[in-house]
Amino acid sequence: MDIIHTPSYEALSQEAASYIAKQVRTNPDIVLGLATGSTPTGMYKHLLEDHIIHKTSYENVTTFNLDEYIGLKKTDPNSYYTFMRKHLFQHINIKKDKIYIPDGLAGNLATECENYEENLKKNGPVDIQVLGLGENGHIGFNEPGTSFHSRTHIVELTESTRTANARFFPGFDDVPTHAITMGIASIMSAKEIILLVAGKNKAKAFEQLLYGEVSESFPASVLKKHPCVKIIADTSVLEESSIIA
Ligand code: GLP
Repeated sequence: MDIIHTPSYEALSQEAASYIAKQVRTNPDIVLGLATGSTPTGMYKHLLEDHIIHKTSYENVTTFNLDEYIGLKKTDPNSYYTFMRKHLFQHINIKKDKIYIPDGLAGNLATECENYEENLKKNGPVDIQVLGLGENGHIGFNEPGTSFHSRTHIVELTESTRTANARFFPGFDDVPTHAITMGIASIMSAKEIILLVAGKNKAKAFEQLLYGEVSESFPASVLKKHPCVKIIADTSVLEESSIIA
């Protein structure tokens, strides 16, 4: 794993965006795996700036999002569909039919998971997968204990994940209990993975990722088995932990 330490969240966001924008310009029909949450929002802001300044085109880009809550309408302010629209898609020239996000309101959720995997196979592999890190080591919505062989599936969210994400909702009880997520094996199929780690609340998870063993009880640890992982971490993570940059 290649680790880049940045002096601030702003620098982390700039670093990630510059790298991705450069890859999009080099490979205009790139397949990007995208993440939601607070961590990548700065990166998306910089991608929009780059789109305006350098005219990076997304016309032939395909995107796959990691996950979506079950039970929220696409138009719900907290759906990941809305998140992606607001932070990226409505501002760039990406084609609607090249955007893939699991449908958390599909009539048959099991079929939706199968179809998502099919689409990944048909249009993939993902060239660059962006990931955030859950406080409990989850990636996508793959909670501790998820099989490293898992493909797109339905998950019951842990109380800790629902608590961590409650800040976006009116209250804890409004946070959906289930989600669809790409599985660990689906994520690992990407050619390259960029993990963004920001904020003091991620310090423990970051330490465990670096020094802990590879185990299904800590999903992000699987990344140690991937041949091409870049971790971009801001210093607030380091300040809180015993890691020396
Ligand atoms: C959510 C998302 C993950 C994300 C994680 C961390 O649970 N499903 O994809 O990486 O939270 O989010 P944040 O960046 O807000 O800390």
